[in-house]
Amino acid sequence: MKKALLKIWLLMAFGIIASGCNAQAPSEEGLKDALEGKFYMGAAMNDQVILGNDTSSLKILQQHFNSITSENVMKSGPIQPVEGEFAFDLPDRFVDYGLQNGLYIVGHCLVWHSQAPRWFFVDEKGNEVSREVLIERIKTHIFTVVGRYKGKVDCWDVVNEAFEDNGSWRKTKFYQIIGEEFMELAFRFAHEADPDAELIYNDYSMHQKGRRDAVVNMVNDLKAKGLRIDGVGMQAHYGMGHPGFDEFEESLLAFSGTGVDVHITELDVTVLPTPDRRVGAEVSASFEYQEKMNPYAKGLPEKESAALNDRYLDFFKLFLKHGDKIKRVTTWGISDIHSWKNNWPIRGRTNYPLLFDRNYQAKPVVEDIIKATKQ
Ligand code: G3I
Repeated sequence: MKKALLKIWLLMAFGIIASGCNAQAPSEEGLKDALEGKFYMGAAMNDQVILGNDTSSLKILQQHFNSITSENVMKSGPIQPVEGEFAFDLPDRFVDYGLQNGLYIVGHCLVWHSQAPRWFFVDEKGNEVSREVLIERIKTHIFTVVGRYKGKVDCWDVVNEAFEDNGSWRKTKFYQIIGEEFMELAFRFAHEADPDAELIYNDYSMHQKGRRDAVVNMVNDLKAKGLRIDGVGMQAHYGMGHPGFDEFEESLLAFSGTGVDVHITELDVTVLPTPDRRVGAEVSASFEYQEKMNPYAKGLPEKESAALNDRYLDFFKLFLKHGDKIKRVTTWGISDIHSWKNNWPIRGRTNYPLLFDRNYQAKPVVEDIIKATKQ
């Protein structure tokens, strides 16, 4: 009896030591290695990862990714909360991490109506600022932020989410106060601030025909005016059934047809029921919590896991097919546990949208993607 217990204890101890060694083994082939020469494999870094507190995510980042995007710290609200007062601590750490590790660094994002500080659009009395003042504020913001990381950040999301599904301009303060010209001004200022940085336009639901056409026209327009635009970012916040691969591919080809690179910028796939498909990735959308909308709180059943695996693999096969048009594929986060999709558009759900699970383990699809690169 004692012997049997000792045997179990030894097996367990050996198992723990062995798994501890495995966890530290650095040289397993990662996604970034398998995809070398095809496109960059990127991940968004949240505050805890940037601060170095989330060491499990950092381990994954080092093994599998060669590009990083700032999930929140470079947005205009966090980076310039008060006019003229810039919070560069976290953005500096983010950029330093990228430089030290030789990564393709993406700054997200310069002009976005959401998470823009309120002061940006009003004067000291709270009245809406004039067109000239707003242009000056955009210029100062872009010159200060892009200027600080000149030669360090490889690529900027210059304007984020400026169109509606039907292709009309989103009626943001930038649009209402300045008009359509805010787009070209933003690209002009970013290029002046760092002539070598790549500049892209980024949006969600890019498979929609209305938005696709509007973005193609906008890119052609900027180019006709002699402005620099290097790429279009398809955010790729997707579900199990939407978008269809056909409409996704059609948009990818349309953007690439304008002569710019395609960046898959914010990839995640939700397995949870969607209260309203029309919200796309509209960050302000919010619905009340209901138990039935959170069906996998205790874990994702095998059937659903396998379906998620297949969906991810099919997307990566499509990315590989168009590897010559795609510069980068970035997942919006590293492990499921920290994904924004746990709290959007319903707070407090348990979602499984990324390539690494809640225990920081690679999902089977990671190995499948690596295999697909060899075929
Ligand atoms: O800043 C506070 C912080 O002080 C506080 O400790 C924390 C506690 O909850 O909240 C913090 O702010 C949150 C921030 O994320 C950082 O965690 C905001 O409330 C929350 O709204 C914010 O959500 C972000 C969202 O954009 C809004 O900016 C998500 O993390 C981020 O994933 C999401 O990313 C966007 C892209 O930028 C653009 N495309 C769509 C995508 C998904 O919405």
